[in-house]
Amino acid sequence: MNIVVAVTGGIAAYKSVHLVRLLIKAGHEVTVVPTEDALRFVGLPTWEAISRRPVTTSVHEDVAQVRHVALGQAAELVIVAPATANTIAKMAAGLADDLLGTTLLATTAPVAIAPAMHTEMWLHPATRANIATLRERGVAILGPDDGELTGGDSGPGRMLEPEQIVAQALGLLAADEQRDLDGLRVAVSAGGTREPLDPVRFLGNRSSGRQGVALALAAADRGAEVVLVAAHVDGAVLAEAAQHPLIRVEHVGTAAELGDAMRRASEDAAVIVMAAAVADYRPADVSERKLTKDAGPLESIELVQNEDIVAHLAARRHPGQVVVAFAAETPDDADDLLERARRKRERKGVDLLVVNEVGWERGFESGENAVHVIGEGGAVVARASGSKRAVADDVWDVIADVLD
Ligand code: CTP
Repeated sequence: MNIVVAVTGGIAAYKSVHLVRLLIKAGHEVTVVPTEDALRFVGLPTWEAISRRPVTTSVHEDVAQVRHVALGQAAELVIVAPATANTIAKMAAGLADDLLGTTLLATTAPVAIAPAMHTEMWLHPATRANIATLRERGVAILGPDDGELTGGDSGPGRMLEPEQIVAQALGLLAADEQRDLDGLRVAVSAGGTREPLDPVRFLGNRSSGRQGVALALAAADRGAEVVLVAAHVDGAVLAEAAQHPLIRVEHVGTAAELGDAMRRASEDAAVIVMAAAVADYRPADVSERKLTKDAGPLESIELVQNEDIVAHLAARRHPGQVVVAFAAETPDDADDLLERARRKRERKGVDLLVVNEVGWERGFESGENAVHVIGEGGAVVARASGSKRAVADDVWDVIADVLD
């Protein structure tokens, strides 16, 4: 990949030598664009040797090649590291008084900056406002870290380590490339329903909601507009999804509430993903007041069956709408797992059924999962394992194929 590494005038410039080395070692073509000031910290020969390319700061060299815009046009990624307060201010204002300025204005590639400065400068309202402007324009702000700074101070302002900058900047690009679900409306349910017995007790299940939330995040990162109907989800799991600009979270408690919310969300959704663990039964009576032993021993709880939400949504789906169900099974063996999944897919009338094996020790609170995806005719159309996010992306790959 063609990467421009812009280096500005801060002591952290020495770390960018390693940054360039890492990118070159990973097989990328790197053009270094230092500012005049940056060359006071690390000289031109170092940049040329390490990047194996000519390096200049001037817009007046190589005029025949229109170098002042050519670099930006050819770049697939621009990393500014370190980004000083001065450069950040110039970027926010759109100044183009050197090769870095013209390159930044001429590029349509993703831009990531790794700020480095003293804490006071980082926290100054001018810098805060400039950072907000850049963020609004889609520039990725990597760091800064909180740590020791030159001169013995410490606080936020330290440039991220080169390894972190490389990982985050390349990750950004991967996310940017994969916008294959752009504008697709999807409804995702996640978490375990809670069926109240009285104001303090409920019948629930062990679902953490992690897989469902990962599915919502994966879709949104790929450009989909997601309604996430969240039953009970473990504490921090929901936080990231709730902040995502393309995800709207609707909180529900019971299966009946989840059913209503999913019906609403499904009206204009192209894809329905039912990852929630829905209670099949609810107590027939919900006591208005806390059940106490004074009223006599409670020997049994009468239950009534809940509606099968996904079967209902599948039966009423509009043309082209894709419905995906999940199943967590405790099978005898691998064949039994697939048999159960095939029967469940038929019974629910869904397009895809994602099945995993669960037990006392596996499947719930873990960050990992291993699934089979059953499609048309009961065929195993995909197998996926790894982090719940990786599994979510694989499931969306299958859904995207079905949508095509
Ligand atoms: N589901 C649903 N409504 C219910 C129960 C389940 O929509 N009342 C959905 C789940 O969200 C999931 C799929 O159906 O996508 C399978 O859930 P599961 O509990 O395995 O289905 P059941 O029909 O309850 O199967 P079993 O008899 O094995 O419990």
